[in-house]
Amino acid sequence: MKISTLAEKKNLKGRRVLVRVDFNVPLKNGKIKEAYKIEKSLSTVEFLCKAGAKIILISHLGRPTGVDKKLSLKPVAVALGKMLEKKIDFFAVSDKILGDKKQLENLQKKIMALKNGDVALLENIRFIKGEEKNDPKIARALSSLGELFVLDGFAVAHRDAASVSGVAKYLPACAGLLLEEEIKGLAKLIERPKKPFVVVLGGAKMETKVPLIKKFIPKASQILIGGGIFNTCLWAKGVKVGRSIVDKNYKKIALSFWKNKKIIMPVDLVVGGEQGEQAKVVALDSKFKIQNLKNGIYDIGPKTVSLFAKYIKKANTLVWNGSMGMFEVPPYHWGSNAVARLFASRARGKAFGVTGGGETVEVVKKLKLMNDIDLVSTGGGAMLEYLSGNKLPGIMVVLKK
Ligand code: 3PG
Repeated sequence: MKISTLAEKKNLKGRRVLVRVDFNVPLKNGKIKEAYKIEKSLSTVEFLCKAGAKIILISHLGRPTGVDKKLSLKPVAVALGKMLEKKIDFFAVSDKILGDKKQLENLQKKIMALKNGDVALLENIRFIKGEEKNDPKIARALSSLGELFVLDGFAVAHRDAASVSGVAKYLPACAGLLLEEEIKGLAKLIERPKKPFVVVLGGAKMETKVPLIKKFIPKASQILIGGGIFNTCLWAKGVKVGRSIVDKNYKKIALSFWKNKKIIMPVDLVVGGEQGEQAKVVALDSKFKIQNLKNGIYDIGPKTVSLFAKYIKKANTLVWNGSMGMFEVPPYHWGSNAVARLFASRARGKAFGVTGGGETVEVVKKLKLMNDIDLVSTGGGAMLEYLSGNKLPGIMVVLKK
């Protein structure tokens, strides 16, 4: 797969470059809790600054249904300014501004007035109704603000939105440095993963994991399963799982996983109350009756960690997505922490290791293991969809014709 890259674009000096980033970061009381996605797009922004372009950044934040002050990108503009050590121009956008000739001209003038190397950030693009529906009017209006379109937000590349795939119909498009890095890293898993190839999957959403498991069964040496998806497998077998997270839409497929020798299931679990009270390790016996269930299953147990370790320690290619349990509540963090440490001890050197997704990145970051993993993808849903073999609208527009 060949993509158009930023490095191939010459004469960027003075050119207005629209960059779709994914600055969809968690905020609390107007403060950014986790800035990984912003940090990862800095190289693209800095590259363009150095080249003397006028940079117009576009991002979404959360899932607003209209204008919602709590989801303004203003705090992100402030944080970005600190990271880049420069002033960030912040421009409002709305249906009115993009839909009215005069107001759009005003915005265009403000952008024209930027100096070479200046950076502007537009307000949350999801405040605009037509954004997610990929309304051509919105895409066209956005395209009138720039001369070149760069998609850098891998995490949003699976969305067929006006600011992701729509604008590229009206402007030449290429991948930013982050998107390029992610595509190259993930290609190693898709094209020729070195064996043993071990996939670790947790989390709750069967809808995103099932296509991935199906895709990886022929290629992977083992698929290690934990978290909510394992609960669903247990429940499908008729095991009583209490209040554990279960996805009841996937009974048949979850049942079929038990018959596949490549799919490795936990042999013990941690059960207890939702706040971590009365947490206990319980073995899964041949009858699968869970003793002391209390509220539910919230983590994998130590014997499962050592079973998983056996495979992880031999792997030459590793992928991990999804926590092994309710990692936010101690003592249910042990399973995910153990997997993260095992993963990091093997990746970057012995194996090529890729992780991604909000929860997974949170665990890895907390344990300060980011630099011990070859690729920590900024994409959650996007990474899973890409690895499942789906064509992502954002990647399609940067493919070389
Ligand atoms: C993400 O957080 O996965 C991306 O920013 C995409 O957000 P969305 O799922 O709201 O489209």
